[in-house]
Amino acid sequence: MTRRKLVAGNWKMNGMARDLDAVAAIAAAARAHPDVDVALCVPATLIAAAASRGEGVWIGAQDVHANDAGAHTGCLSAPMLVEAGARVVIVGHSERRADQNETSHDAWAKAAAAHRHAMQVILCVGETEAEREAGRAERVVQAQIEKSVPEDATGDWFTLAYEPRWAIGTGRTPTLEEIACIHAIARAKLRQMIGDTAAGIRILYGGSVTGANAGAILFTENVDGALVGGASLTAAKFVPIIAAAAAGN
Ligand code: 13P
Repeated sequence: MTRRKLVAGNWKMNGMARDLDAVAAIAAAARAHPDVDVALCVPATLIAAAASRGEGVWIGAQDVHANDAGAHTGCLSAPMLVEAGARVVIVGHSERRADQNETSHDAWAKAAAAHRHAMQVILCVGETEAEREAGRAERVVQAQIEKSVPEDATGDWFTLAYEPRWAIGTGRTPTLEEIACIHAIARAKLRQMIGDTAAGIRILYGGSVTGANAGAILFTENVDGALVGGASLTAAKFVPIIAAAAAGN
């Protein structure tokens, strides 16, 4: 089963109107590499403007509420994000699990809400450093997948991202063998839950991906793309990662 590579940027709480030129430059690179899917999850304040500058890129959000509307001060629903121009949303990011106490069940409900409104979903899982050192990385990731992946997930709309928390923003990455190991376990868990459909689901790696390490990581077995934080903030850093994904096709 061939899965197109997906290179997704997560700008986190970074990005002002002055940064929209970067969106345009990244979009130009995406159009130059049509064999690779490119997403850019910007702050909600920039979604509409980024969508107007980002032809060829899936402009996205970094969170969504599980409900479509209602008394939830400060939250944004899938219909609102879609109306603003978002085609994709990240759910269950470890920073939201840590800062907003989000659970795997929350991620499940948010993924379902986004899917109801025809959004693409990138759902994040990953262990802490303490969990890895205790030899529990595999079990933690399996449990997160079990609790958060919707039962109707298919590769048409659903992407899993393995982001070990200790690799995020640290410049440290697992070895390629460690990445391959968790990705194989993740795919086996998906297969156990949803059967052969699992073969069509992309599994991204995230955590300190750069232009320098992307080529090796992106062509590790069962790695179908990357979820990129810091190195997605400028075209100079992000475009080489898109090019690396295209190079192996
Ligand atoms: P960095 O690429 O900055 O390590 O961030 C990874 C991440 O959390 C993307 O969602």
